[in-house]
Amino acid sequence: MTLQSSLSDAFGEAFAALGHEASFGAVVESIKGDAPFQCNGAMAVAGAAKKRGEKLNPREVASAVAERMEKHPLVGSLEVAGPGFLNITPSEKALTDTAQALAEDPIRGLEAGAQLSIVIDYGGANVAKPMHVGHLRSAVIGEALKRLMRARGHTVIGDAHLGDWGLQMGHLISELAIEQPSLVYFDPDYEDNYPDTPPVTMDDLARLYPKASNAAKDDEDRMELSRLATAELQAGRPGYRALLDHFIAVSIAALKEGYGKLGVEFDLWNGEACVDHLIPDMVEEFRNNGLAEEDDGALIIRVERDSDKKEMPPVMLLASSGAVLYHTTDLATLVDRKAEIDPNLILYVVDQRQALHFEQIFRAAVKAEWFRDEQLEHIGFGTMNGTDGKPFRTRDGGVLRLEDLMETMQSAAEARLEESGIGADFDDEERAEVARLVGVAALKFADLQNGRLTNYVFDPDRFTAFEGKTGPYLLYAAVRIKSILRRAEEEGAGFGDIHPDHEAERALVLALDAYPKAIALAAEKRAPHFLCDHVYGLAQTFSRFYTNCPILVDGTAADVRASRLSLAKATLEQLEHGLNIIGLDVPERM
Ligand code: ARG
Repeated sequence: MTLQSSLSDAFGEAFAALGHEASFGAVVESIKGDAPFQCNGAMAVAGAAKKRGEKLNPREVASAVAERMEKHPLVGSLEVAGPGFLNITPSEKALTDTAQALAEDPIRGLEAGAQLSIVIDYGGANVAKPMHVGHLRSAVIGEALKRLMRARGHTVIGDAHLGDWGLQMGHLISELAIEQPSLVYFDPDYEDNYPDTPPVTMDDLARLYPKASNAAKDDEDRMELSRLATAELQAGRPGYRALLDHFIAVSIAALKEGYGKLGVEFDLWNGEACVDHLIPDMVEEFRNNGLAEEDDGALIIRVERDSDKKEMPPVMLLASSGAVLYHTTDLATLVDRKAEIDPNLILYVVDQRQALHFEQIFRAAVKAEWFRDEQLEHIGFGTMNGTDGKPFRTRDGGVLRLEDLMETMQSAAEARLEESGIGADFDDEERAEVARLVGVAALKFADLQNGRLTNYVFDPDRFTAFEGKTGPYLLYAAVRIKSILRRAEEEGAGFGDIHPDHEAERALVLALDAYPKAIALAAEKRAPHFLCDHVYGLAQTFSRFYTNCPILVDGTAADVRASRLSLAKATLEQLEHGLNIIGLDVPERM
């Protein structure tokens, strides 16, 4: 129970006692003025009355509430302002109790009411195709949402949902067949005992794919080879399937490493190929329940709704060639998730440009009565752009490789560290590790602090700045508290009860009190930037506290020091918890 929510409850009771709905008592943070909280319910009460044709003066409503609440133990002072605002300053006891509760548990009250089972589909890299920026954003946002939902107490499974079932697989197989025709895997009669070791490396895959897709671009015959290989693979040719399994294994190993460096971990490395065995029965189901129909040789599902304002094209279940499409694998994945996990909620963290695709498959899944509308959500996002305002590309116009991006970030971070003299006394290994953490933090925070749907420009210099709303600023803030606590320990200074006497101390207690609300908002809106705002505000409030309230300075009384150390410790714990959710790891020192 936070101080803010206790105040809301208390004001709610006062509104109810006066014959109004308790929900009008909601207490919010003030935007201006000295009082940290306000309640705007009186205006809302008057507004509701007006709708019923009654007349109520909001100032009078507010005064009546104020009269009831003035002596409330949580309230220090109350003021009715303007048209009927209630400005609320909590009592000293309320603040001290809150501080004490925070010292005991700085991350209390985060859990959601109902605990859900949630699948988050994110990452979405494709086997053998280089990653694009959309994959990066998906990984960073998806990971943050996964951790947010876990902090709320939900059970969450993160699934990488690899793209491993389309034409790109046919490209790979056919190109390999051209390069190494003797490869035993191509023998259609070769039923079992496929070699255990992959016949290709990640570098081979990265080379084969562009080679094939370029060759096929203006050569219809070459394209036909890729299409044929895709069709044969999808028809279940065992040698091709064995090859594909090797491609997938090789890719997963590489991706695990890349995502690992970014601090992104998946529980499942499933992909499109995992569900292909479910497709025939699923197609059968759609035929039998009358939802699928033939259209120009293709099999489609109509998903329009009366409320549609825009045209809603049908789901393509099977192409006229019989080929399986992106819609098909995503629907089969839903069949699989329903059977294996039966989640309450599935979040798809995928580029906003795929919004229509998800709307279509969600509607088909709802029509089939596998899920209800509110159980399937597309969490779209904008693009990370280059200075030209277009989705970011490398200098030579190529698509992003995660590795290169990470390197760019690390060197930008190294330059920053050098410029600010941080880590001058570290050995090379520690300096490199700190630069890596700073680079990753810079990239992730720059991404997550934006509203999801906002596009932003990739700017490593700005991202790695130690001043302003950046990842490095936050790491530095946390490291500074760590070093204060280390010094306190060396000096034998202990922790004690918190007395928030100074204005900056009270502000810090209130900032800490706002954590559960920030977490709830970020989780419910699927919007990590609310959490970014909180940790940034917390770091700034701590900084003001530290400037105004000396801790380890001679002349600070022992009990004041102990109180401030407790406050610093609670701040660090909450800050690190919040930073961890957005995926920022704090070094021991900087
Ligand atoms: N592999 C896809 C792409 O690169 C993204 C997959 C997103 N997830 C999904 N269930 N469709 O565009």
